[in-house]
Formats: sequence, C-alpha cells, structure tokens
Amino acid sequence: MELRRYEPPLGKDLIDELSAFWEATYGFCYDGFRHIFEGDETEHNTDIVYVAREGNDLVGTCHLTIPRGNPELGGLGEVATSVPHRGRGVAGWLCKQALCDFEARGGRALFLGTGNPAAARIYERLGWQRMGNSVVFVNLLHFDTIDDFYADHSAKADGVTIVRGSAAQRIALVPLILYPHETAVLDFNTQICSTKFKIQEMCLGLYPKYAKYESDGQSAWFCAVSQKGRLVGLSTVVCAESQCCVDGFTYPNHKQTEPELLREAIKWAQSRGDVQARVAAQDTEKLAVFESLGFVEKERYAGADMGEMVLLEIEQ
Ligand SMILES: CC(C)(COP(=O)(O)OP(=O)(O)OC[C@H]1O[C@@H](n2cnc3c(N)ncnc32)[C@H](O)[C@@H]1OP(=O)(O)O)[C@@H](O)C(=O)NCCC(=O)NCCS
Repeated sequence: MELRRYEPPLGKDLIDELSAFWEATYGFCYDGFRHIFEGDETEHNTDIVYVAREGNDLVGTCHLTIPRGNPELGGLGEVATSVPHRGRGVAGWLCKQALCDFEARGGRALFLGTGNPAAARIYERLGWQRMGNSVVFVNLLHFDTIDDFYADHSAKADGVTIVRGSAAQRIALVPLILYPHETAVLDFNTQICSTKFKIQEMCLGLYPKYAKYESDGQSAWFCAVSQKGRLVGLSTVVCAESQCCVDGFTYPNHKQTEPELLREAIKWAQSRGDVQARVAAQDTEKLAVFESLGFVEKERYAGADMGEMVLLEIEQ
C-alpha cells in the first residue's frame, strides 16, 4: 500500500475525489470544506491530508490540522477506510502516521471527535483518551493527565490581546470549550454549554459555529490570545432587527480578561443597535460581570435547557 501526504492547495481532481469519498462515508456535503483544501487557511494552519492507495484505488484517509501560531495543538479528522479495505488495520496505521508527524512537529495534544465505538477502539489503542462528558478524544504527548495539560495550557499569562476571530482558532477553541467550566452557559449565541452541565457532541464541528459570524456583517467574534499564542477566551455578538446579543467566556485563570473581551463585542454591537445579554440565572459570576459593564436586568424567563434565564440590557 502506498501512502502520500498532501498539503493545500490540493489539485481540483484530488479535492473532487476526496470530497466524494468523504460524502459517501459520512453522509454529508463537503462543499463547505473545499476552501481549506484549496489553500484558504494556509496562513493560519498546516493541513496534511494522508491518502493510502492500492494501485489507483483510494483505500483510506485522515487529515491533520496544526495551528501555525500554536503547534502544540492539533486536530485529526476525515479518518475513513473504503468499505472493501476495512478490518485490515488501515485506519490505525494512518492515524499512527499522523500522530508521529504531529509529535515530530512539537505537538502535545491531538484532538479528534467520534461517536463510532469501532473508531474509538482504534484511537484508544493508539493512546487517545476520552475527555469528560463529550465525544472528544485527546492524545497527550508529554503530559500525564488532562488536568496536567490544562494546568499548563490555561496557565495565567500577562499580555493577553483581543483579536478578531479567524481560522487560526479552528483547533484551539476545542480545548477551551471542552474545559469543565463552572459557568453553565458559555455562550448564548452559539448555544455552547460547559461539559460540566451538558454533553458536548462536537469536536472539529465547533469552529464552524463561530466561523459563520465572520462573513454575514450581522455578527462577529473575538478571541483573547496569550503571548504564547494560546486562545484563552472567546466572545460573540449577533444582531437581528437592531437587537444585538453579546456573550463570551474565558478559562478560569483568565477571568480578569473577560470584561475586556466582552467590551470588544459590545463596542461592535453599539453601532448596530441595542445591546443585550442572556445569561443563565445560575451563572451568578457572569451576571456580575455584565452588571459591572453597565447591563441591568430586564426580565427572567424559563429557558429551554439551562433553567431560568436572565435578559439584561445596557441602559441607553
Ligand atoms: C472506523 C473506520 C475508519 C475503521 O477503519 P479500518 O481501516 O477498518 O480500521 P482498522 O482496520 O485499523 O481497525 C478495525 C479493526 O480491524 C482489526 N484489524 C484487522 N486486521 C488488522 C491488522 N492487520 N492490523 C491491525 N488491525 C487489524 C483492528 O484490530 C480493529 O479491531 P477492533 O474492531 O477489535 O477494534 C472505518 O470503519 C470507517 O471508515 N468507518 C466510517 C467512517 C468513520 O466512522 N470514521 C471514524 C470517524 S472519527
């Protein structure tokens, strides 16, 4: 069997072939991902597509993504073996190649998501472990435990800056969201909750929830990034009919950055309409942060998942 590694931009014929293979394997359309393989994200991420063939037959694939600004993190996706070649160790072999390449490039935490128990067995044999209350698995290199990884990755840092969201955060937002935050509703706009309160059923699918805010002119997202290039907080603003809803969260060690991160979203919102926030009543710390930013409580109502919610607005 022959293994080839491809880095974007991939040729159109190869993108067509891979998209058709992945669509048949996973049952969803790959049109929204073509731009990655065409090279749109090379400024932000190193992408390596692994393709195994026997003769002309496509046997199996996987796809490694490493953020250029933070190569200690990585994401693995598109693990697939064509039906006639399954059960011969192809997927295990491809994932091992990707893991070795990741480690050789300084990688320390490689994330993937799966709800497929057969795939999970392959990953666990190669050292991946499931993260609490989620479908996300991480392979830690040079960390003993997930707690050790987070102690290092989310450590307090000076010189955090706020930047607009971009594909640079495609992978980094996975550990930030998967952390077992005490805040129940991390972001009302994206409907992302803490894994402490709700199972997280996405991994690499989390980034598109934010990416859609880049392009529509009615929404935006902002990132708090440490000097080491680590993502330590996210905020969003979504406007509809001149009502703008803001929200955001950080690692516990970066709570001091939260007001600044939210202020960036508020500033963006203020030129577009009235500024609101919707916070779970149980998230008293977050309520206090919004109040410190000039928000006042308007009403309480029964939320869908997280119980009582509080609607806050900035007094004009
Ligand atoms: C999940 C999937 C990628 C597995 O691919 P695969 O190439 O059949 O996987 P492997 O052959 O490496 O492992 C499958 C089994 O074959 C066994 N196997 C058989 N021959 C083997 C050999 N020569 N060497 C190693 N393992 C072998 C493995 O031990 C494993 O056994 P297990 O079921 O007890 O864990 C494939 O079924 C697939 O494409 N599924 C649909 C897409 C999908 O779900 N992808 C994962 C998304 S995260």
